[in-house]
Amino acid sequence: MTNVTIIGAQWGDEGKGKVVDWLASRADIVVRFQGGHNAGHTLVVGDQTYKLSLLPSGLVRGKLGIIGNGVVIDPAALLNEIERVTAQGLVVTPETLRIADNATLILPLHAALDSAREAARGDKRIGTTGRGIGPAYEDKIGRRAIRVCDLAEPESLSAKLDELLLHHNTLLAGLGAPIFKKQELLDSLLALAPKLLPFAEPVWERLATARRAGDRILFEGAQAVMLDIDHGTYPFVTSSNTVASTAASGSGVGPAAVGRVLGIAKAYCTRVGSGPFPTELHDETGRLLGERGHEFGTVTGRKRRCGWFDAALVRQAVKVGGIDGLALTKLDVLDGFPELKIGVGFNIKGNMYRHLPYGAAAQAAAEPIFETMEGWLGSTRGARSWAELPAQAIKYVRRIEELVEAPVTLLSTSPERDDTILMQDPFTD
Ligand code: GDP
Ligand code: IMO
Ligand code: MG
Repeated sequence: MTNVTIIGAQWGDEGKGKVVDWLASRADIVVRFQGGHNAGHTLVVGDQTYKLSLLPSGLVRGKLGIIGNGVVIDPAALLNEIERVTAQGLVVTPETLRIADNATLILPLHAALDSAREAARGDKRIGTTGRGIGPAYEDKIGRRAIRVCDLAEPESLSAKLDELLLHHNTLLAGLGAPIFKKQELLDSLLALAPKLLPFAEPVWERLATARRAGDRILFEGAQAVMLDIDHGTYPFVTSSNTVASTAASGSGVGPAAVGRVLGIAKAYCTRVGSGPFPTELHDETGRLLGERGHEFGTVTGRKRRCGWFDAALVRQAVKVGGIDGLALTKLDVLDGFPELKIGVGFNIKGNMYRHLPYGAAAQAAAEPIFETMEGWLGSTRGARSWAELPAQAIKYVRRIEELVEAPVTLLSTSPERDDTILMQDPFTD
């Protein structure tokens, strides 16, 4: 019996939500361990489409959902999301959702600072989701964050807000943005407290009990390795560690509990926001990928940048992310392309690299080295078995396995839950 951890292997939006939903039928508990409502996970089940940001995707299967301490929680956004999915028929109560009481809160001042700083950066902006993710993690590391447990202690909360506002109002005023009033913040947090606190507990205790009972835990990552604060295309990254080991520290379990790590990658590649993207296509093929893949951000609605599969970067993600097997999604989007390219390395001013160096100038100068493959004429859309795939599509998958040095253990062939081919069940030892 093993647990499973799902992480993104590119720049996000690989289809983690669909894969988590699919695997959740084999799990008892689904745990989010990092990120916040910058994540947008779309699940298509029959005629219903669920768009989840903070809620663990397993809730759609009626599985217990846990939001770990590594997540940054905007309480208003969470309550809105609960209301929205409840209207769609999901059951989200303190029986089905638990929240770490030591998780950091995102307050309105974090989103204000996020936006003010992005505006000040001008054309050097990161292209954040504007949700206050970065500023909230900064406060956590800066030891001045408000946490879920503080909502139960009005006096501690009041004192902590003084310290927090000293920091933030100085910054906001410096950026020419409106400042925040302590009493208004305090009142709004105390109004939210009775709605949020019934979900709060030390989730590590529940997870320890579940582990002892032999329950299967599915850890659901947000964002992706190339957006990891250490291993990604810094500074064009998110503000948390997205690699698999974070599942342990972000929920309060030991490293062995992470279990088997499934990296999710699209059969091509997309990115939202600014930053290096060596295999990006600015031509008709890129436009076609975006159109056929419906590549628009779930959270911000922004058009996603599209390009060829970058095997060099996914290989890097496999190594640093701790990925044991890959789930390849959106293979169907490549149906009918006469020719496909795969990035296998980088040419940087005449020097060849198999990985992307970290320097900003080197990353900006990185020219992809491509390998070209014949496409396929038949359809993979909706395929549910390996036998239904055109021979050339199988060749493409096999070549990716060789280049990224990891087996493809799951294939997804449409947004629909059951249009999935499982080669190896990650839950089995
Ligand atoms: P996540 O952030 O990794 O959960 O991914 P998103 O949900 O933001 O984006 C993935 C999008 O692709 C969603 O709209 C999914 O419904 C869709 N999707 C997932 N798997 C497939 C697939 O195999 N084929 C197609 N065509 N769409 C897919
Ligand atoms: P899921 O979980 C794609 C990107 C933003 C921006 C950068 C920093 O759906 O895959 P942030 O608001 O986190 O400070 O923004 O990270 N980004 C994502 N891109 N999918 C996501 O989540 C993302 N979450 C953040 O676009 O470039
Ligand atoms: Mg997404």
